[in-house]
Amino acid sequence: MSSDKSLFRRKTIAAILQNPPADHESTSSPGGLERHLTVRDLTALGIAAIIGAGIFSTIGKASLDGGPAVSLLFVFTAVACAFSALCYAQFAATIPVSGSAYTYAYASFGELAAWIIGWALIMEYAVGNIVVAISWSDYFTGLMEGIGVHIPLWLTMGTQTGHAGYEAVMTIMQAGRPLTDATPAQLEGYKAWTQAPELFNGFHFVVDLPAFTITVLITALVYTGIKESKNASNLLVLLKLIIVFIVIAVGAFYVQPANWHPFAPHGVGGVLKGVSAVFFAYIGFDAISTTAEECKNPQRDLPKAMMYALIICTVLYVLITLVLTGMVSYKELGVGDPLSFVFAKVGLPRLSGLVAVSAVFAMASVLLVFQLGQPRIWLTMSRDGLLPQVFSKIHPRFHTPSFATIVTGFFVAVPALILNMDLVVDLTSIGTLFAFALVCGGILIIDPYGRSEARFKVPYINGQWLVPLILVVGAFLVVRYNAASNHEFLLDISGQRGWLQTDALSGRVSGGFAHQIPTLVFFLFCIALSVLSFRKKLSLLPTLGLLINLYLMTELGISNWTLFFVWLLIGLMVYFGYGYKNSKLNRMAA
Ligand code: ALA
Repeated sequence: MSSDKSLFRRKTIAAILQNPPADHESTSSPGGLERHLTVRDLTALGIAAIIGAGIFSTIGKASLDGGPAVSLLFVFTAVACAFSALCYAQFAATIPVSGSAYTYAYASFGELAAWIIGWALIMEYAVGNIVVAISWSDYFTGLMEGIGVHIPLWLTMGTQTGHAGYEAVMTIMQAGRPLTDATPAQLEGYKAWTQAPELFNGFHFVVDLPAFTITVLITALVYTGIKESKNASNLLVLLKLIIVFIVIAVGAFYVQPANWHPFAPHGVGGVLKGVSAVFFAYIGFDAISTTAEECKNPQRDLPKAMMYALIICTVLYVLITLVLTGMVSYKELGVGDPLSFVFAKVGLPRLSGLVAVSAVFAMASVLLVFQLGQPRIWLTMSRDGLLPQVFSKIHPRFHTPSFATIVTGFFVAVPALILNMDLVVDLTSIGTLFAFALVCGGILIIDPYGRSEARFKVPYINGQWLVPLILVVGAFLVVRYNAASNHEFLLDISGQRGWLQTDALSGRVSGGFAHQIPTLVFFLFCIALSVLSFRKKLSLLPTLGLLINLYLMTELGISNWTLFFVWLLIGLMVYFGYGYKNSKLNRMAA
């Protein structure tokens, strides 16, 4: 282990392997975690974490913006995830201990980057779970309504959503425009806001109570320990897969090919608006790397399981998107529960109810996976001295990281009461893409020429000529198609769907220099990496993984980048205020 005071002090791989930071003494099995997960269990776990709010919920808005062509975005995003999965797999084979990207960064980039990645992973795990809780609430309230239990509207959505709907509808009314100009979601927000009890100064009590409640329940479950999580998750995966197959198989009979025209109604710009929603749907395959210490043969099985889970989910996602956008017009899909909505729409209310019930269970399982993962990452960081010791406190009876679990519960449940889903989807995606980019970059640092002795390594393809070539072709395509489609998209939304303007103005498609900054930074980075690849003959696949993840990040708009940087800044302040001094590596140096 290096013992210096520098920000780049690293834990050597040998040191990490000698002292696995896993929760050994504290699990239900005395003497260490048991290695019992096979490739099938791992694939099931991956699917358990992947299939959730993304496909049950956020796909709706992505289809509204992009039309049937969003199915292609699912393929493109899967490729980006596959490159990242290869890099995760090599790390998992090299350092088969829990801690995931955080541990990998500690070994490749050093402590500061490890801290930053651990901090960014909060976006993936905890903030991601806010999204899942909100989507869960959408399905749950729909389900309750279906069986005649009416929950007041003002208890079913975040404060931010209610207020935004109210403002939008007021603007429409004040402009003398018809209420049909408002989206159904805005009308609901307006109703919720006006029906809610007023607390003070025009502030109305609109909160998402179901989202809060499910988070508290799942946190309580995680707190008390889940010994049978493997079996439970296998069962839930089966349920998810069955319901997804039913949606595809039954839905296929109701597809009207006319709905697939136009295929990309708002051009490439519209399709790319769905980047964060689509990417969100894939998040989770990386979570299985945290089980490295419980795999029978992590070096062999983790890479396979990640790839299998990704391939299975990609096929399902593409088919579902085609079925959904074929069953009803993409224009109707901007709802929180699109999978059950389409069946109600084609006159199959029972199937719609069945899908809603399954979605409620499916999303609860995603909540569970991430609600389990977040405290364990904090536990690892706390053991390294980067977080206070209380984060690695183990409950004497339940053998779970008790304090970290409660903090996770607060961190998810309280914002879920208030926040708007679009914002949290974007933040989750930007944080996760950042983590993926660093993992790909990490492979370029520890093994740029594919010479690792690890049982699995990313296949080496010389990127000397290919990286610059692919970038030139990619730049040509992006410039050509983006310019045309952005223009059409802006015309379209300003004419027909004025409500999107706010989105567009704060996001990717609007003009203004500030909005070009992420693209500009990306462009400069591409040039630098091309030169580096050319000179150093870097491995192609991690390089492309790094670039594609960064490209997807640029599509998320300056406002999200700003929030993300503020988040990282807070993280840096915490690190320099606490972690730098208390790090185990620092204490060794002293
Ligand atoms: N991929 C997970 C979901 O869609 C996070 O819920």
